[in-house]
Amino acid sequence: MSSDDIINLVNAVYSDRARTGVDKACNYIFEALSDLAYSARTLALDVGPLSQLRGLKVGEVVLDLGSGGGIDVLLAAEQIGPSGVAVGLDSSEDMIALARQNAKAKGVKPPHVAFAKASLDKELPIESSSVDCVLSNCVVNLLPGDGKSKLMKEVFRVLKPGGRLHLADVVATREIPEDIKSDMTNYVNCVSGAISRDEYQRILQDAAFVDISLTNLAKDLTACCSGTPPRQGCNQSSCGSQKPSTKIAFNPNDFVASYQISAWKPRDPADPVSSTVLKNWWYAYPDVMSIPDAMTAEEVAALIRDPTKSSKKVTVVDVRRNDHAGGHVRGSVQCPAQTFYEDAPELKRTWTPLRWYQDYLNSIENTSSKAYVMAGGIKGWLSKFKGEEDLVDYDS
Ligand SMILES: C[S@@+](CC[C@H](N)C(=O)[O-])C[C@H]1O[C@@H](n2cnc3c(N)ncnc32)[C@H](O)[C@@H]1O
Repeated sequence: MSSDDIINLVNAVYSDRARTGVDKACNYIFEALSDLAYSARTLALDVGPLSQLRGLKVGEVVLDLGSGGGIDVLLAAEQIGPSGVAVGLDSSEDMIALARQNAKAKGVKPPHVAFAKASLDKELPIESSSVDCVLSNCVVNLLPGDGKSKLMKEVFRVLKPGGRLHLADVVATREIPEDIKSDMTNYVNCVSGAISRDEYQRILQDAAFVDISLTNLAKDLTACCSGTPPRQGCNQSSCGSQKPSTKIAFNPNDFVASYQISAWKPRDPADPVSSTVLKNWWYAYPDVMSIPDAMTAEEVAALIRDPTKSSKKVTVVDVRRNDHAGGHVRGSVQCPAQTFYEDAPELKRTWTPLRWYQDYLNSIENTSSKAYVMAGGIKGWLSKFKGEEDLVDYDS
């Protein structure tokens, strides 16, 4: 099976788990999580996450790789406080939706707590040198081929100088027999993709990490990584003939162990630190679906000058408040861009918020309202109408 096929299969299975719920909570410390939505804690094949969270400090930036239902991000957010930033990345849209739902239940939202869809075998949607601590619980083993080494290089890139990586992962303690390894149920249950301690160490060294430590937590992995197929299995068409099966009974503790893995990016005072974390703020929100039509600046100007000539009731919304373009459409409603996704139907910045707005109208089957983008944006507007007092409102 190719690496892409494996990634698609893993994604389909975990999406299925996100939608259906999974009954494996493994060794989570439930008292610590009692106020979280059940769904956040049931999706972890826990190999030791809470110890990773202990060293977090108020105000730090934390990134969780393969954030699942969001549990570690939500716990990290409590440790770092409102001045910190906690971001979770996951390839499964359903997991991201679940994590956002859990964040909402906890009353936290972007930019303090954000979940973004991203595949960990690709460039991370995170700014270089922006993160104090990268966490990941039982995810890296799921990356096939050279995905693990690529990811560690990306982690090194996004960490601030002096930043740290704390992983909990499944590590192979001896050669895994081919018949166990090739069973994709064992892959998605975090066994087949496990690499040895030495290989892990080499990958981290190649990525330029220092002070690497790998500690066997000696946990019983029977409940987490046994040959039992995921509840409901994978019922997505994307699984096709590669549907996980369960043929072989075995004791995972014979071949794999849970490890706590830590490593540091060396300090370099010359390396600048980024104050933004996600490359684009809208990654923290659902993907846009609609492609709204455009109106020309002239059409908008005509409507503003003589609204009676149109049967349409028009509101011009400008979502760039205070962003120095030099002016606004006169009479437009001014909205800050990033603040009110949950308050739909209000609009947000440029194409993305406009498309969300149209998505929102579609979702409530509102066909009497319609969102348009103004072609050329505010810059085009100003170049056309600068000096025309009835159309331009200048920033003071
Ligand atoms: C075993 S679960 C762990 C979830 C979470 N870390 C926790 O402890 O609750 C693995 C998670 O990794 C995600 N994942 C697997 N492969 C991935 C990939 N290539 N890119 C991004 N996420 C991935 C899955 O969607 C799933 O949410």
